[in-house]
Amino acid sequence: MEISINPAEKIEGHIRVPGDKSISHRALLFSSLTEDTIEVEGLLKAADTLSTKKCLEKLGIKFKGEGEKITVEGKGLRGLTEPDDVLNAENSGTTARLLTGLLAGQPFYSTLTGDVSLRRRPMKRITEPLGKMGAAISGRQNSELLPLSIRGYDLLPISYTLPVPSAQVKSALLIAALYSRGISEIIDYYNTRDHTERMFQHLGSRIEKKGKYHIVIKGPSRLKGDRIRVPGDISSAAFFIVAAALSHRGELYIENVGINPSRAGILEALGAMGADIRILNKKEYNLEPAADLLVRGGTKLKGTEVAGEMVPRLIDEIPALAVAALFAEGDTVIRDAAELRVKESDRLKTISLELRKMGARIKELPDGLIIGGDTKLSGARCESHGDHRIAMALATAALFAENESVINGIEAVGISFPGFFDLMNSLIS
Ligand code: S3P
Repeated sequence: MEISINPAEKIEGHIRVPGDKSISHRALLFSSLTEDTIEVEGLLKAADTLSTKKCLEKLGIKFKGEGEKITVEGKGLRGLTEPDDVLNAENSGTTARLLTGLLAGQPFYSTLTGDVSLRRRPMKRITEPLGKMGAAISGRQNSELLPLSIRGYDLLPISYTLPVPSAQVKSALLIAALYSRGISEIIDYYNTRDHTERMFQHLGSRIEKKGKYHIVIKGPSRLKGDRIRVPGDISSAAFFIVAAALSHRGELYIENVGINPSRAGILEALGAMGADIRILNKKEYNLEPAADLLVRGGTKLKGTEVAGEMVPRLIDEIPALAVAALFAEGDTVIRDAAELRVKESDRLKTISLELRKMGARIKELPDGLIIGGDTKLSGARCESHGDHRIAMALATAALFAENESVINGIEAVGISFPGFFDLMNSLIS
């Protein structure tokens, strides 16, 4: 499916974006492990979270409601049942990795697969440490690739330093640690997103952060609760924040966006580039900070450098940031982002390739990008490569190209943001 996008004069409006994808996955998974009925509000209703929900249904969990507000009937840590068919995480890395951590603790056999993109993504990063905890997991290429077959056992605690900046690995191990007997310690020198830790704490598990990098959890640890509220997804908001910051005129108000510091790097990077972004009306839902954002256009951005500790805090926003960088004064350099090569597509490659079709000057580095500023984009025919964030980044760039662009493969936006194009249309003039 394709869409034509024309240049926009102005971005203006007052919007809400769908629920945070990372928090929604966790709300579904962790509610299922409580012994309570949990009301989840603000849930993301998109293909990725539907994958998590369907897998949990196959494990015996019941959900009531269809939309943003659902109730989950938790079955306790030991209440899941053996699925009678293959579990399919489709396009969702978070589903695959967190669910593997969960299945590692179950006393039954399961098989997990995914779509063509997910079946290419690295899994050894979870199968190896989960194996150390005692789970029997095997998969293609020495347990690097899906499908995986998993036979859970009574797990041993683990002390593990994350070798890659991955919250999915950290979360898989924390979930498995719920099922082990003793103290596990996960050391995350990258400070990746900490939604699992916050939600575990909200649900009463015995988890603690020691110092800046050490997470300590005592298993077995039961979860309990009654309500989880999911804030809007800053990763979805990022495309509109960039569009509003780049537009010559107009003002965009985005209600209720999650601003967890481990996710809010995009606000800092755009702020350093000179974007006018205000954080208003701060609040907190189940230990997750949220706020309204007000973005004003009309300021000239300048190039920036993003590397090191900042990268995990904006890893999913780099395609959007690359679009902002095209129009800034001077070059923007992004480094330490090799993880982008193992996302839904190789994002360093796909974003460079596609933005170049519009006239961008981008150099691909092994772990980043150098993006030339002050670019005059011209409309072109571009491909999403089946990657939702690439589709949305290209659509954002197309708003500032000189003539019409066509983006192909736009159905990919359904992974995280089904209403993206309607919302975009409502803001442009
Ligand atoms: C996610 C973690 C990140 C991120 C992904 C969602 C999560 O991946 O890119 O979109 O929900 O934990 P990694 O942890 O694999 O880097």
